[in-house]
Amino acid sequence: MTIRDLIARKRDGDALSDDEWRFIAHGVAAGAFPDYQVAALLMACVLRGLTSAETLALTDAMLKSGSSLDLSHVAAPRVDKHSTGGVGDKVSIALAPLVAACGVAVPMISGRGLGHTGGTLDKLESIPGFLTQLSLAEAARQVERIGCVMIGQTAEIAPADRKLYAMRDATATVPAMPLIAASIMSKKLAESLTGLVLDVKTGIGAFLPRLEDEIALAREMVAIGAHYRCPVVVLLSNMDFPLGRECGNANEVAECVALLKGGGPPDLRELTLRLGAEMLVLGHAAPTLSAATERLEAALAGGAALEKFRQLVAAQGGDPAVCDDPARVLPKPALSEPWRAPRDGVVQQVNALGVGRGITALGGGRETMDGVIDHAAGFTLHAIPGDRVAKGQVLATIHAADAGRVQAGHAALDAAITIGDSPVTLPPLISHRITADGVERIG
Ligand code: URA
Repeated sequence: MTIRDLIARKRDGDALSDDEWRFIAHGVAAGAFPDYQVAALLMACVLRGLTSAETLALTDAMLKSGSSLDLSHVAAPRVDKHSTGGVGDKVSIALAPLVAACGVAVPMISGRGLGHTGGTLDKLESIPGFLTQLSLAEAARQVERIGCVMIGQTAEIAPADRKLYAMRDATATVPAMPLIAASIMSKKLAESLTGLVLDVKTGIGAFLPRLEDEIALAREMVAIGAHYRCPVVVLLSNMDFPLGRECGNANEVAECVALLKGGGPPDLRELTLRLGAEMLVLGHAAPTLSAATERLEAALAGGAALEKFRQLVAAQGGDPAVCDDPARVLPKPALSEPWRAPRDGVVQQVNALGVGRGITALGGGRETMDGVIDHAAGFTLHAIPGDRVAKGQVLATIHAADAGRVQAGHAALDAAITIGDSPVTLPPLISHRITADGVERIG
C-alpha cells in the first residue's frame, strides 16, 4: 500500500478500507508522508466525500493514533460539550464550571481560534496566569479533585487530527462534513466520556452554510458516538450574528463572569442553559430537561457555578480575582472607539463572518496556527438585528491597540452591520435537536 495509490483511489471516488485509513492516520501522525501528498488526499476527500463507514474508520484511526484521558478513577458521569465554532461563542467557559457545580464531571479539551471563529483556549489565556497546556495525568487529577478541567489538545490526543486540521486550514479543506465529523469525534472520544453534547452552528458564520449539511454532520456524529456507546445529543444553533454582546477574548471572559453571576445577555444565557440541561440529563444528574434547567438556574443564582469557576481558574494557575473584578484583572485595550449608525432604521444584519474577520483584523484572532493574538482587542455590540436605531447612535465599540487597528475595525463593521427599513424576524436560537432517535425541529 502506498499513499500515492490511496490518493488516486480517493480521486476516482473509491471507498478506502479500515486498514487503509489506519495506514493514513498512523502515517500522518508519524510524519511519514510529505505535506503535498496529504494535501492532495484531503482535497480528494472534500471533492469525493467519504461513506459513513469510512468516516467511522477515519475517526477510529485518528483516535487510536494517540492516547486517551484515563478517567477510570472518576466515579461521576463524564459529559463534555463541543461547538463547531462561532463568533462570540464563549459558552464553554461558563458551561464547564456550571455543569460541574451540578455534579457532572466535565473533562473539556478545547481549541484555539482559527479563521473567523474564536477559540476557548485563547479566551481563557486572557486571564493572567491561566495555563491550558496540562499533561493528561494532571488533567485527570484535576477532574477528580474539582470536577472539571479546560485544556488544549495535547500532543498525545489524536495527533493525526492535530496535523490534519492544521493542513486543512492551510489548504481550504476544512468545510467537508466527514472530515469535520471525524476530527471532532476523534478528540472527544479520547476524553473517556459517558455522554457528549454538540452545538452545531448554522448560518452565515458556520463552517458548513447549508442546513442539510449541518443535519448530516449531526447525524454522522450521533452514529459515531453510538458505535462507542457514548450517547450524543446535538443542538443546531444559529450563527447568523454573534452570540452575546462581547466578541474578542478578554471581553468575552468578562461576559461569562456576568453570566455566572446570574446576568449576561439573554441569548448567551439561553444557549448555555439548553446545552447544560442536555448535559445534566445525559449525566443522570436530572430526570428531565426542565428539572435540569431548574438545577442549573439554582447553581447560577446561588453562586455555586461562579465558585466552581473560581476553583477552575485557581487550579490552572489563573488569577481567581477575575471572578470578582474582571475589569481590573483582564487586559485592557489602549483604545476603545465608537462605531455609529450611518442612518435611521432597523438593524438588518450583524454578519457573524464579517465580525469574526474583523476581530482578526483588530489583532484578536489568528491568521496562522502560531500567530500571536492581542487578548484585549475585540468588539462590544450594543445592537442586534431587529433593533430600531437612530443615525449617530453608538451601535458598537471597537477595542484595539492602535489607530490603524481601530480603522480596520471600522471597515469591518461598515461591511458587517447593515441598516434598512424592513422589520426583521430573528431566526430561532436553537432550531433542531438530533439524537439517536432522530431529528426534532424545535425552533
Ligand atoms: N472543529 C474541529 O475540531 N474540527 C473540525 O474539523 C472543525 C471544527
